[in-house]
Amino acid sequence: MRFSLNIDHIATLRNARGEVTPDPVAFALMAEQFGVDGIVVHLREDRRHINERDVRLLRELITTKLDLEMAAVEEIIDIACDVQPELATIVPERRQELTTEGGINVIDNISHLRKTIETLHGAEVPVSLFIEPDLNQIDAAAEINADFIEIHTGHYANAVSEEDIYDELERVRVAAKHAKKLGLGVNAGHGLNYINMKEFVAIDDIDEVSIGHAVLARSIFVGLEKAVKEMKEIIRYPNK
Ligand code: PXP
Repeated sequence: MRFSLNIDHIATLRNARGEVTPDPVAFALMAEQFGVDGIVVHLREDRRHINERDVRLLRELITTKLDLEMAAVEEIIDIACDVQPELATIVPERRQELTTEGGINVIDNISHLRKTIETLHGAEVPVSLFIEPDLNQIDAAAEINADFIEIHTGHYANAVSEEDIYDELERVRVAAKHAKKLGLGVNAGHGLNYINMKEFVAIDDIDEVSIGHAVLARSIFVGLEKAVKEMKEIIRYPNK
């Protein structure tokens, strides 16, 4: 299982004072040195954290891979086609939300998403759809030629009772297996942390996790190198 780091909140911290530091681009380059497998950024329409300058510099400078999270809107699709990230992950976006709140409804938006995928494929950009662990949504993603899905793990992360944790993990496991059978790549993310990853890594069919908040928050206390290496250690030796 690979581990990509979402660095949006470094840009949030920078923007809090309208300053140039901390620079998310410099942060990404350090994260790569410490072993992350990719960098994830969400270029939101409201530009509340990552901006276009960040995306373009990341494209030029990082040596792992760039996963651009984005809404399926014309302005951002144009930027994605121009920047050509290794992956464009389509997420739902609402201005009032604190963070992405759930998966995109592929079934209800199928013709728009089909067109979005065609446009991105035309610019040689592979596409992932951020969706709930729901077999019908996965079938729809495959039907419109998505390359990957990213399974929303927020319900697993928020589960409290042992029974709910087990059920949510099982939903993800079944969804990942189903997606793999259809030939889709399978990523996962949202709310994953140093505790809930220990059980999560047992799901064989997940290619990559995208983690932001937990690792960035830990890096404030222990430094980025330790925060990244601790997460990689959990992925490699979950039972330690
Ligand atoms: N994947 C997607 C699609 C997201 O929107 C986010 C949050 O920006 C993440 C993964 C990472 O979530 P977290 O910050 O909770 O690790």
